[in-house]
Amino acid sequence: MGVEELRATQVERLRWSLRHAYENVPFYRAAFDKAGVRPQDCETLADLARFPFTVKADLRANYPYGMFAVERERVRRIHASSGTTGVPTVVGYTQGDLDRWADLVARSIRAAGGRPGDVVHVAYGYGLFTGGLGAHYGAERLGCTVVPASGGVTSRQVQLIRDLGPRIIMVTPSYMLTLLDEFERQGVDPRSTSLEVGVFGAEPWTEEMRREIEGRFGIDAVDIYGLSEVMGPGVAQECVETKDGPHIWEDHFYPEVVDPVTGEVLPDGEEGELVFTSLTKEAMPVVRYRTRDLTRLLPGTARVFRRMAKVTGRSDDLVILRGVNLFPTQIEEIVLRTPGVAPHFQLRLTREGRLDALTVRAEARPDAAPEDRRAAEAAITAAVKDGIGVTVSVEVVDPETLERSVGKIRRIVDLRPR
Ligand code: DLL
Repeated sequence: MGVEELRATQVERLRWSLRHAYENVPFYRAAFDKAGVRPQDCETLADLARFPFTVKADLRANYPYGMFAVERERVRRIHASSGTTGVPTVVGYTQGDLDRWADLVARSIRAAGGRPGDVVHVAYGYGLFTGGLGAHYGAERLGCTVVPASGGVTSRQVQLIRDLGPRIIMVTPSYMLTLLDEFERQGVDPRSTSLEVGVFGAEPWTEEMRREIEGRFGIDAVDIYGLSEVMGPGVAQECVETKDGPHIWEDHFYPEVVDPVTGEVLPDGEEGELVFTSLTKEAMPVVRYRTRDLTRLLPGTARVFRRMAKVTGRSDDLVILRGVNLFPTQIEEIVLRTPGVAPHFQLRLTREGRLDALTVRAEARPDAAPEDRRAAEAAITAAVKDGIGVTVSVEVVDPETLERSVGKIRRIVDLRPR
């Protein structure tokens, strides 16, 4: 599809989707009416900016089925978003939605370098989380042999990889590091496996992490992005031939980047909050859904579709320390560049008097001598001060002491009094 054809398809689908939402979801009807817009007012893609945003709280307020645009009987499957506190948010899919989802994940795995006939090891969690089943049906749709390992039971994962010979693994990058430890514990060289490609997502990860995983496993590591409210994995996928950020499957999801404070639409290339409007979803259309993920829209390269820059972080993960903004990914870049420390780290937030304080805890590599650890502590402290502009404490702790990921990792441990 060329760009012009793509834009024409988007306008046509956008008009359908706005009408579908307005006519079938009381929440959208009320929101559009309040903003004084009708679906037919959207004649060009730029007109979308006149429509109201949707936020997670709207989904919570309409829990469980209030955001659905079809009768419950037409909903074939439910998933829920990964939020661990408060009312969950559920999402629903018609059979048509499930088919499109499988197609888009198949497209994603293909862009990652997967081919029909490949064995695909899926270590994203199966269940209400969209990762496992989303990856699973996509890999089947592409014509692969799927191993539905799900998350956890790490020693068995390693056994399955050794015995079944997968070419592709789909897993969170942090759990891939847990698998790395297990390979080493079993005395197996992680570079000796059949794996050639890893499709990593569900959490932010940096170029430094890509280098670490690619080097340690001898594979290509590519980024898959998605969120339950918009579909699940496969909203955007990085192409293995360029590894320059995920291409958004724009024929199904229309992206905007907005100023997180004013909501103003920003030009491509500027960093802000990613917002999606679904173009083809039946059961649960979303209109200008605010993801809270911070990124930039970039021109297409390996595909016509625009790319998103690797996500810097969610606005929820932003730590404001004495007026300085800091994301866990910035610490990841520094820790992974520092000799003597393993790629495992945690951020502890505490309160000292009236000020918040941050301690970076990183794990020593097994072969690091005591003086290497002290050097690493000094190097990380200096890099954070110089690069981010704030003073933190750094502790390089013993190997194997920080909690390991079995799925999405939680980097921030908030120990501040409520
Ligand atoms: O994490 C869907 C998914 C599963 C994507 C497997 C990729 C692979 P949720 O649980 O709803 O859905 O969480 C969505 O996770 O808004 C981002 O903050 C974060 N996220 C997902 N993929 C990436 C990525 C799944 N590649 C939330 N890079 C999103 C950075 C990501 N953050």
